[in-house]
Amino acid sequence: MQLPVKNATFQTDVTPDRREAGQPPERTIGRVIACDGSRATIQSAVSTASWRPMDVWSIGRMVSINLGENRIVALVYKVHAVETSWRESGENPIHIDVEFLGEVQENPDGTSRFQSGISNYPTIGAFAHRIRSGDLALVHDLGDRAGVEIGHITQDASIPATVSVQDMLTRHFALVGTTGVGKSSAVALLLRRAVAVRPRLRVLILDPHNEYASAFPDLALTIDGDALDLPFWMFRQEELADVVFRGRPALDDEPDILREVIAAARARYRVQTSQEMTRDLGSSLLKRPLEIGLPPRPGQEPAPQAPTIDSAAPFRLKDAFAVIDELIGLHEQRWPRHALRSLKVRLESLHNDPRYRFMFGRANMYETIAPILGQIFRIPMHGRPITAFQLGGLPGEVVNAVASVLSRLAFDLAMASQGACEILVLCEEAHRYVPSDPALGFAPTRQAIARIAKEGRKYGAYLGVVTQRPGELDPTILSQCSTIFAMRLANERDQQIIRSAISDASASTIGFLSSIGNREAIAFGEGVATTMRMRFAHIPVHELPAMGVGKQGEDGAREPTLDDMMRRMRA
Ligand SMILES: Nc1ncnc2c1ncn2[C@@H]1O[C@H](COP(=O)(O)OP(=O)(O)OP(=O)(O)O)[C@@H](O)[C@H]1O
Ligand SMILES: [Mg+2]
Repeated sequence: MQLPVKNATFQTDVTPDRREAGQPPERTIGRVIACDGSRATIQSAVSTASWRPMDVWSIGRMVSINLGENRIVALVYKVHAVETSWRESGENPIHIDVEFLGEVQENPDGTSRFQSGISNYPTIGAFAHRIRSGDLALVHDLGDRAGVEIGHITQDASIPATVSVQDMLTRHFALVGTTGVGKSSAVALLLRRAVAVRPRLRVLILDPHNEYASAFPDLALTIDGDALDLPFWMFRQEELADVVFRGRPALDDEPDILREVIAAARARYRVQTSQEMTRDLGSSLLKRPLEIGLPPRPGQEPAPQAPTIDSAAPFRLKDAFAVIDELIGLHEQRWPRHALRSLKVRLESLHNDPRYRFMFGRANMYETIAPILGQIFRIPMHGRPITAFQLGGLPGEVVNAVASVLSRLAFDLAMASQGACEILVLCEEAHRYVPSDPALGFAPTRQAIARIAKEGRKYGAYLGVVTQRPGELDPTILSQCSTIFAMRLANERDQQIIRSAISDASASTIGFLSSIGNREAIAFGEGVATTMRMRFAHIPVHELPAMGVGKQGEDGAREPTLDDMMRRMRA
């Protein structure tokens, strides 16, 4: 079969792509031979003499189909020889399957613009050829939107890959890919770019591998298990219950007892502090009745100011112990004594456990939540808008509860700031906190993260999720992420998840997901101009995430001591 493959052999009424003087004559040309609603097949040919690696018809490259005034931009997703053997001399006919992405239109003033979707289908016989560099740049151009450069597109290293930080943040984003492909490094890059252009943005990284301290030596405050203060009274009832009962399942009544004890201890704290204030004023009229906070006995008036359990008001553990002792000592038992004793033992052992010092050790140094929020959420910022929250040093069983507390506070604080600060919560290994299996994970964490995903945009609370296993991430969270950077994914189920998240028009792009290189990603959604295959910029070593770097202020490269190792093993 003789195929017209060289430009010179065509007689056509379709204006071919404009040629520049000096452009090599062997540029490959094809013809559309089949077309359906969103795809076309192009026929072309290659010969041994003209064969070049990375030629125009390689999978993943964009090509142009000429319609005269306009040019369709299409993506190659399959290439195959028509015959089953290769001819060394002469032409080898090939078929190229492409998917339409959009159209470049020439404006009367000589400028061009790209739009997704096509207004005219190619006719049979239309020219297809290498896309012009200018068109390729146009396809990836964000137009009126401000963009930041995060790398370059794979097809042409001279064309920057840009992302709209505004759209990426406000509509949430996800970064998925198998281990070692460069997710955390890409996150470091994205965050660096984001804080550079959004001065009100704070970022809280939930960092399970303690790796981000090294990525932001200049921009982040690192909070590790030693520096962390998250007093137990900041935990909601169910968050605290998760910490208290996770190791050993609760006896029947224990969760209810805990609820009552916390309420009573809170009420006592309130009375004590108002007493102290009154004493400061020179009066000692107010006396604390022993029963404050406990439910009234039959015939007794209810205690003043019935406490709300989740008001984040402080309480003291010694009051909680006293309440339990009083309940044990009651003549008419409301709770079984063994359950009361069991709860007391649990609280005592948490209180004495050095691993839980961040919750119980310095809790009573704080009278309000404000200084803790200020530190974690960088208010004031002091030039460091990022907090790397090292979850790696915490006892495994509290990580969920801590993630819940932090995500909840991020939302509440962004809302209360009335636009003065934006907070991005970046969840590494997000499938651990919000797994797809509702039986796994921890309901309050799921709720807190879902709340940011669903309502955060209005209040300036944003979500970034990173996972190796999108198939194990709660699909409702992923569906709220409007910009997705899909890096290499080997697992078929994971690919399927991304395939269903991407719009139909570029679904075949996902076919590449199992084979793209490290640092490469297919970016799609609100934050980018069009689905783009891109490569993240190279990050200098001193800005790469890396495990094993000490907390801020310590020598970044220090060897861990035996103490460090023992502490980590205990955790
Ligand atoms: N943009 C980049 N610039 C320079 N080096 C990079 C870049 N991306 C990845 N790397 C290199 O690849 C290594 C692995 O990257 P990274 O830790 O980001 O992968 P990951 O996908 O987060 O892995 P894991 O799933 O194990 O967390 C890095 O330590 C770094 O050496
Ligand atoms: Mg990582």
